[in-house]
Amino acid sequence: MCGIVGYVGPRGSQEVLLGGLGRLEYRGYDSAGVAIISANLQTRKRSGKLQTLRDELVANPLDDGHTGIGHTRWATHGAPTDVNAHPHLADGGKLALIHNGIIENFAELKAELVAEGTEFTSETDSEVAAHMVAREYHRTSNLTEAMRAVVARLDGAFTLLVVHEDSPGVVVGARRNSPLVIGLGKGENFLGSDVAAFVEYTSDALAIGQDQIVTITKDDVTVIDFDGNSVTPEPFTVTWDVSAADKGGWSSFMAKEISEEPAAVADTIRGRIKNGEVQIEGFEPSALIDVDRIIIIACGTAAYAGLVGKYALEQWARIPVDVELSHEFRYREPVISDRTLIVSVSQSGETMDTLMAVKYAREVGARTLSICNTQGATIPRESDAVIYTHAGPEVAVASTKAFVAQVTALYLLGIAIAQANGKGDSKVLAAVVRDLEATPAMLETVLLHGERIKTLAKWMADTQAILLLGRHVGYPIALEGALKLKELAYIHAEGFAAGELKHGPIALIEPGQVVFVIVPSPRDPHSLHAKVVSNIQEIRARGARVIAIAEQGDAAVLPYADEVIPIPLASSFIEPILAVVPLHIFAMELAAAKGLDVDQPRNLAKSVTVE
Ligand code: F6R
Repeated sequence: MCGIVGYVGPRGSQEVLLGGLGRLEYRGYDSAGVAIISANLQTRKRSGKLQTLRDELVANPLDDGHTGIGHTRWATHGAPTDVNAHPHLADGGKLALIHNGIIENFAELKAELVAEGTEFTSETDSEVAAHMVAREYHRTSNLTEAMRAVVARLDGAFTLLVVHEDSPGVVVGARRNSPLVIGLGKGENFLGSDVAAFVEYTSDALAIGQDQIVTITKDDVTVIDFDGNSVTPEPFTVTWDVSAADKGGWSSFMAKEISEEPAAVADTIRGRIKNGEVQIEGFEPSALIDVDRIIIIACGTAAYAGLVGKYALEQWARIPVDVELSHEFRYREPVISDRTLIVSVSQSGETMDTLMAVKYAREVGARTLSICNTQGATIPRESDAVIYTHAGPEVAVASTKAFVAQVTALYLLGIAIAQANGKGDSKVLAAVVRDLEATPAMLETVLLHGERIKTLAKWMADTQAILLLGRHVGYPIALEGALKLKELAYIHAEGFAAGELKHGPIALIEPGQVVFVIVPSPRDPHSLHAKVVSNIQEIRARGARVIAIAEQGDAAVLPYADEVIPIPLASSFIEPILAVVPLHIFAMELAAAKGLDVDQPRNLAKSVTVE
């Protein structure tokens, strides 16, 4: 979950590292630090957000140099304090190491080092690796070989970067189950947790595989595996530009990213619909016609996107679909065969729970497809095939534009499989394709209600609990809206399937209780509209304050709702993409009204790379 940057080249390292850390801060923001080699190795590290480190570097500057590493932390072992911040020093301050992940056997390794007389200054697992690399460096006088000797003894997940004062111009990195990519410059090279770390300087990148070690100098990049064999890393071109990873004048990354929800859908569809047929680059749906079961695995918001996808895939492709939280899937010995398709959904492509579930699925013989937003990420590389969402970099910790892009990609998958297996009604599929193409424009009109939703959120700044109801594809939207309210506004929020109301949750309704209701279209083919309107009447009769997200002109809702946020007329599968946007805006505005940081909510990190 931490963010990592490494640099060797002619520029001042400090600027490169701080710029990269700024774009990686979404990964963790408990503390930050840099180590730079000039005449000697110097470090600065501070608990708190990156700005505290920036202030420290002004108050207490270091000598800039051309080799450096930087880290932004999400604490696992040890509280977020100055001493526990990375880099960790060893070899009398000549070696600096940064780490993302968890070293599971650190206690035993630490005991070994302590017995040899090594003194520890922090409570972290990471410091163990620093002292171990220093010990091996003394033995081999080669930083790469020292790293190789150390990774052989580590259990767990890690990305490590190390520099040593006696090897200026060299940064060595290693990865296992934790992300690291290489940025290739001219006369300079970069390492980063993801491409955002160096997107300002280069769009040429290399993906480092599992259990590999990379050594960069300003002119060279060499990669070996943990056994010492030479490896040719896979090149790719970064399609994000630096402005995409910056706030661009918006009050927050989240505000910017919500405004990009129409583009996220448009870009995920772009070039993939030809004459009404879905054709996705690198993805051959005919290879899946013997698939008899699909399991979508994901966490959090991505799992809710998966739940929307389930309704669509089953309806169009007529294949049974389950949606499972990755961390539950892996540990319950699921029944899978070589005709099972595992579809993982992940914005970051690094979520450890999902990565481990994908690996497990492959081991037991399933086919794996990744829906992912991040090039060069681990999950797509561990999968048989990938469909990229093209939402662009998502920096705010709470996922927004990635969600609508994930739903769009799942729809494309559903249509592609249905078209390939011939089970879907071609007229229905053609209509869905047309509706999808019209969705970005409809999303633009939903965004026009932003100011009104902000006013509503301001009025409700003291609200302690919110319930959300939805049915069919509106149900996952209720869950997604509740998650956003919890993580951003720190209030209790609960999403329910509206049909479940009378089976228990209605007991929560008391006068003044705020309930958001996602109302299906009056034209919906299953007549769910009438059922949801009657749910609204039931809760209203018990004093609830109802905020309905309903189709423009839905007269049946008006008499019973305190507020109606209208969405354009759309077919039932497009509604969830439209209805989620007001909930994203509301959660952001409620958090802002409470004076909270909407981009970096407490206790969270965007990329959850530990289990
Ligand atoms: C919620 C949120 C998280 C992520 C989840 C999965 O706003 O962002 O629930 O959706 O941690 O992350 P990815 O998609 O990167 O696997």
